[in-house]
Amino acid sequence: MTPEALATLHARAFTMPRPWSAQEFAGWLADPLAFLLVEGDAGFLLGRAVAGEAELLTVAVAPESRGRGLGQRLVSRFLYQARLRGAEVAFLEVAEDNAPARATYSRAGFAETGRRRGYYRTPEGRSVDALVLQRVLTDGAVNAPT
Ligand SMILES: CC(C)(COP(=O)(O)OP(=O)(O)OC[C@H]1O[C@@H](n2cnc3c(N)ncnc32)[C@H](O)[C@@H]1OP(=O)(O)O)[C@@H](O)C(=O)NCCC(=O)NCCS
Repeated sequence: MTPEALATLHARAFTMPRPWSAQEFAGWLADPLAFLLVEGDAGFLLGRAVAGEAELLTVAVAPESRGRGLGQRLVSRFLYQARLRGAEVAFLEVAEDNAPARATYSRAGFAETGRRRGYYRTPEGRSVDALVLQRVLTDGAVNAPT
């Protein structure tokens, strides 16, 4: 996927936080520590791994392709790639009111380890907390996705 295609799909998936631009994606793709996983042109995940830790930077599935397990598959591929890059723990931030994402991460074994109060602001001006989720990768349960 090109930075333009990533930005187009990101804009279809996000209002809060604001979607990322093609230029921002180009910056991430130029980062040797970052890695992009795609599922055709229906979904993608951007991750980064350094110094034994991995971060899930963003994940987006096209609205018409949701509810079919693509999000789950992208997250399990992320965990495996993070492990291959030497990460022992993975973390991410998710908005407290993002039920589909929280369901996807909880199914992948992430647990809440922190909270950032009022971290996000909706387009209507409402503040939403960010939850910090973590997944230990050394429990032997991270395997190559089938
Ligand atoms: C989060 C996202 C990637 C999930 O993609 P997906 O392909 O639909 O995910 P899956 O089909 O693998 O699974 C979705 C899970 O969310 C659950 N879910 C979906 N809508 C839900 C809702 N409104 N409330 C609660 N759970 C919901 C599904 O039941 C499923 O959980 P289950 O596997 O326990 O049944 C997708 O919704 C998306 O792109 N959202 C917009 C971008 C975003 O929020 N990204 C994450 C930012 S942290």
